[in-house]
Amino acid sequence: MKRILIVGSTGQIGSELSVRLREIYGTDNVICGYFKPPYPENFFELGPTVEIDATDVKQVYHAVREYNVDTIYNLAAILSATAEKCPKLGWDVGMQSLMNCLDVAKEFNCGVFTPSSIGAFGPETPKDKTPQDTIQRPKTIYGITKVMGELLSDYYFERWGVDTRSVRFPGIISNMTLPGGGTTDYAVEIFYNAVKGEKFTCPVKAGTFMDMMYMPDALNAAIEIMEADASRLKHRNSFNVASMSFDPEMIYNEIKKHYPNFVMEYNVDPLKQRIADSWPNSLDDSCARNEWDWQPKYDLSKMTVDMIDVLSKRKI
Ligand code: SER
Repeated sequence: MKRILIVGSTGQIGSELSVRLREIYGTDNVICGYFKPPYPENFFELGPTVEIDATDVKQVYHAVREYNVDTIYNLAAILSATAEKCPKLGWDVGMQSLMNCLDVAKEFNCGVFTPSSIGAFGPETPKDKTPQDTIQRPKTIYGITKVMGELLSDYYFERWGVDTRSVRFPGIISNMTLPGGGTTDYAVEIFYNAVKGEKFTCPVKAGTFMDMMYMPDALNAAIEIMEADASRLKHRNSFNVASMSFDPEMIYNEIKKHYPNFVMEYNVDPLKQRIADSWPNSLDDSCARNEWDWQPKYDLSKMTVDMIDVLSKRKI
C-alpha cells in the first residue's frame, strides 16, 4: 500500500484528489499537506494533515520522514494568469517546491507526480492534435516552469532513478473547489453563473479553442499514471492527456440546452487572451493511450449534465 503526501492538497485538484486517494489507499495512508487557507470543509477531521511550505526543503524532508511517505503528489503551483502578474512568485512556487520534492524523493526513494500543462506549449507548437514530442517554447512564466519541471523530473529519473511521472493537464473543470488565476477558469465559472441564473461575462474570444477535462477524468489520469507498469513507459514527463476541446460558444450552447435563457457576453481580458492564443487547440494523447491505457470518460455534453446536476443540488 502506498503512503502518500499531497503537497498543495487544499487547491482545486488536491481537494478532490485527496478524497479519491483515501478511498483507494486508506485514509491514514494519505497525508494532506496544507499551506494557507481556505481549507476544504472538515479538512482537519477527515484524515492526517501536515503544514508544509514546500519552498522550504526542510519541511518537505520532515513530512516525508515523519509519515514514512513513498509517493509525493506535488500540486503546488501558481496558475498562468496570476503568475504573469507575479513572475517571481510563479517561478519560486513552481520550481523550488519541485526541486525540494525531487531531492527529498531521491533521499527516501519516493515516486513523484507533478502536473504539467497545456501551458508547456507555445505559439510555435503545432496547434491541432499537438504531438507528444514537439516544439515547447512557452511564452508564460507558468509554461516555463512546466517545461523546466518536465525536464528536471526526467533528469532525476535518468540520473538517479527517481520514479517521476506526469501528465500535461488541460483546463480542469470541477465543482468542489474553484480554480484561481488560470486562463481556463472561465469554463468552470460559466457553470456557476448558469446555475445561479446570472449572466456570464467571458474573458476570452469566441473561437478560442483549448483542451479541457472534467475532474473525474483528471483524477483518474493522476492516479493511473502512478500505478502504470513502468516497463511499458517510453515517456515519463510528461504525457499529453485529452478528452474535449471547445471554445466559449460551444460550452455556452451546451449549457443553453439546460438553461435556454442563459446569457453570455464577452469582455476580453487581453492577458488571458494572449495566453490562450499561445496554447494548443487540442492535444494528441495517443502515447498515453498506448503506454498506460489512458481513456477519458467524459465529453462536453456528459460533463455538462453532471456539473449542472451537482451544482444545482448544492447551495452555491
Ligand atoms: N488551467 C491552467 C491555467 O489556466 C492551465 O494548466 O493556468
